[in-house]
Amino acid sequence: MRKLKKIEVLRELLNENISILRCPVCKKSIKYIKESSVLCENNHCFNISKKGYVNLVKNNAKTIYDKKLFESRSKIYEYGIYDELSKEIIDIVDKYTSKKNVNFVLDVGCGEGYYLNQLYSDEKINSRCKLFGIDISREGISLATRYENSILWSVSDLSNLPFKNDKLDIIIDILSPSNYSEFTRVLNKGGVVIKVIPDEHYLKEIRSEIKGKIKKDTYSNKNVINSFKDNLEIIYDKRITYKTNIYNLEDFIKMTPLTSGLSKEQINELNKCDIEKITVDLKIIVGKVK
Ligand SMILES: C[S@@+](CC[C@H](N)C(=O)[O-])C[C@H]1O[C@@H](n2cnc3c(N)ncnc32)[C@H](O)[C@@H]1O
Ligand SMILES: [Zn+2]
Repeated sequence: MRKLKKIEVLRELLNENISILRCPVCKKSIKYIKESSVLCENNHCFNISKKGYVNLVKNNAKTIYDKKLFESRSKIYEYGIYDELSKEIIDIVDKYTSKKNVNFVLDVGCGEGYYLNQLYSDEKINSRCKLFGIDISREGISLATRYENSILWSVSDLSNLPFKNDKLDIIIDILSPSNYSEFTRVLNKGGVVIKVIPDEHYLKEIRSEIKGKIKKDTYSNKNVINSFKDNLEIIYDKRITYKTNIYNLEDFIKMTPLTSGLSKEQINELNKCDIEKITVDLKIIVGKVK
């Protein structure tokens, strides 16, 4: 049998999931999946790309998350620096999806798609989860579609999710912004949010080198946790802390938004630093819809 092109797989995925999707402009149902576009009941039209994603954002804005950042991010993932986190995410998704045959799992701010692609490779999860990835950055989503798989990728805004109410089982939010009114709107009754945030010592070696050079050179996750608690009931939390080889300092510096406020000269200086090991210090919190 002929192998399906990425755009054909995307059309199939859109058709399969059409009943849970809604138009980000008028909030009405998505009605038609055409050759290279998607239309809602009110004829709002969105492009689907040959690369295998649907663009549900009308005016794509430029952000600090550019192609280079996502390419460096995928290299860092290939070195295995975040493998421990990825394993934890797989275990947590496994735990909270084991009771149902079909679970809808959305990664918000999925970037270049590492965690979803890892989840897709896990047989148990793959057999009972439909995976969706959204990000506001077209560069991120464009890179996320690089593998052949059945993940539905879309350029979308997490503060205006293209899903109808009460449809999803899990939202994964790794180092990305949150919008809890949207998250709780689209999650069903037993639904959970898995959020990953930096803890005190996250990338402290880089933070210490740029101390005084950026506006916020110290970090506290207190406000983020409080806002999570205000909206969801925390049912699990875990801190993971380890030191790992940095492998390629330049890629690391490019992949983190921490350095986005630095000048070219400051980046060049940072690239010459003697950092060989880096501290990963992250907190995972899982919250249930109240
Ligand atoms: C630090 S990156 C994390 C990416 C990915 N979760 C990871 O861990 O590799 C933050 C991501 O949030 C995305 N983002 C920021 N604002 C967003 C929004 N309003 N809607 C969707 N994605 C957003 C950015 O484009 C970026 O990919
Ligand atoms: Zn519409």
